[in-house]
Amino acid sequence: PDVRIDVVTIFPEYLAALDLSLVGKARQRGLLDLRVHDLRDWTTDRHRTVDDTPFGGGAGMVMRPDVWGRALDEVLGAGATLILPTPSGEVFTQRHADELATAEHLVFACGRYEGIDARVAEHYRATGLDVRELSIGDYVLNGGEVAALVMIEAVGRLVPGMVGNPESLVEESHGAAGLLEYPVYTKPPRWQEIDVPDLLLSGHHARIDRWRRDEALRRTAGRRPEMIAALDGTALDKHDVAL
Ligand code: ADE
Repeated sequence: PDVRIDVVTIFPEYLAALDLSLVGKARQRGLLDLRVHDLRDWTTDRHRTVDDTPFGGGAGMVMRPDVWGRALDEVLGAGATLILPTPSGEVFTQRHADELATAEHLVFACGRYEGIDARVAEHYRATGLDVRELSIGDYVLNGGEVAALVMIEAVGRLVPGMVGNPESLVEESHGAAGLLEYPVYTKPPRWQEIDVPDLLLSGHHARIDRWRRDEALRRTAGRRPEMIAALDGTALDKHDVAL
């Protein structure tokens, strides 16, 4: 397979969605070797304990570094990228997805409770591995499982052969244009007394391209003004509407 992904979690069932859809098909076709592991397989006590109270006090439980260390020593190989989903991480964007899609082996360590003992990230960084602490957005989930699902789907669809139509990778929101996608329409041409914009039925391809660009700019300015501010001068053409 082109890509190897391992996920370590105390809730392997959470990752069942990876059997479905494009990721599932890529696995069936042998493009993607994806394995989900139960962290408790690396516990040594009768209660299969993975967490303990935080040094320094405070609410919640912290995941033990010794259990994670045994798991990751076994699952990580040389050249793996270790991803720790955490709300305290860098915010995961399409740029991260593009970069991670070129990695040969991704290992996701899904923490629960108040997080994983900070020495885990420090230790594996010190061994020279690429360790990424990544957040999927400014909100708090119960654990890293759903965040790992999000990142695996975003990365997985960039693996060659996984998306049916490679062109759908080009013109899309958060793509190279730095703009949100324009609105799209299909049949029927009139629905709930709303008409598809006439121009889209006209066959004037140059005008349609211009209209789509203006709609993308308008939408981006309204919803994501910071993306307009971040456009470099070369990203705008002389016909672009004044924003
Ligand atoms: N774990 C809990 N919340 C998270 C978030 N927003 N992103 C990544 N991992 C998380």
